[in-house]
Amino acid sequence: MRHLLDIADLSVGEIGEMTETAEDIIKNPEKYMGICKGKKLATLFFEPSTRTRLSFEAAMIDLGGQVIGFESGTNSSASKGESVRDTARVVGNYADIIAMRHPSEGAAFAAAEVSPVPIINAGDGGHCHPTQTLADILTIKREAGRLDNLTIGLCGDLKYGRTVHSLIEAMIRYKNVSFVLISPEELALPDYMLDVLDENGAEYKITESLDRFMPNLDVLYMTRIQKERFDDLTEYERLKDSYVLTNEKLICAKKNMIILHPLPRVNEISPEVDSDPRAAYFRQTYNGKIMRMALIIKLLDCKNVKCGGVSKKYYLGYKCKNKKCITQTEYGLTEKNYIDKNGLRRCAYCDSLI
Ligand code: CP
Repeated sequence: MRHLLDIADLSVGEIGEMTETAEDIIKNPEKYMGICKGKKLATLFFEPSTRTRLSFEAAMIDLGGQVIGFESGTNSSASKGESVRDTARVVGNYADIIAMRHPSEGAAFAAAEVSPVPIINAGDGGHCHPTQTLADILTIKREAGRLDNLTIGLCGDLKYGRTVHSLIEAMIRYKNVSFVLISPEELALPDYMLDVLDENGAEYKITESLDRFMPNLDVLYMTRIQKERFDDLTEYERLKDSYVLTNEKLICAKKNMIILHPLPRVNEISPEVDSDPRAAYFRQTYNGKIMRMALIIKLLDCKNVKCGGVSKKYYLGYKCKNKKCITQTEYGLTEKNYIDKNGLRRCAYCDSLI
């Protein structure tokens, strides 16, 4: 069974094949119109979404398939206490593939343990969001013409911004890609992601200034401060306006720098920037649908194909202490962990240190 839980589940070669499929879908959409006829996608969204859910549904419809699902946990039997894994096991009887978003970190990983059909992680709390990364990658490829030799600035909420975590995991695998991590100290990249950068020998700089490295950037990836992940809303109010990208701030940027944002934005990119040709964030949403089409084709064609990405050895026992991890709420879930390249033991679901 092939799932997409983490972007590392896909090899660089597979991502390359998918971007080629995506380019072909854009050029020859009619070729793909009936390719998923008779197949059903279930979108199980326990958390709000506009782009991810609707682009998945549009992707399946454009492939000739059909869609079922729910758009909030309160409209499903999760509100009566049904577990994530029972939900996936049941819906696997009704659909050929499931895209799942959940507020708990590691939820899709738990669902994949029992699901009879492929699970796609459409965002699990502040942990990861691999299909947004597929959209980001296609956008960088189409806008810059390459995925190597890039300096990528990541700005805003790097702590809870799951799209940032997945994008780093993907881009460290391309040649000569370096990162500038721009955030307030309180919203800095989590240690486990810094470890990922270090383990892969990636070059990175840490700064609180959006201006300081602007002239060096090939890509500027803005993110929203993730209000819904804060335990203390006064802390959110204090940090919410940390960065606002304006035309003035872009004066010293490269003429061909790409401005990305997974969206939704609140006020971290001023609307005046939208008409700048470098602003690629609405084109990014279109690319998201196309890459999700390429992903559905791949996973439905690839049932029973061995995973092409990283495979980990798991151990049982040890309780995860991350309050936002799926292990805190999912009954009957076996505590599993793995040992990372530095010999540190981490939760198999949310990657937190144990
Ligand atoms: N980028 C993204 O995940 O947007 P939605 O929350 O609207 O799906």
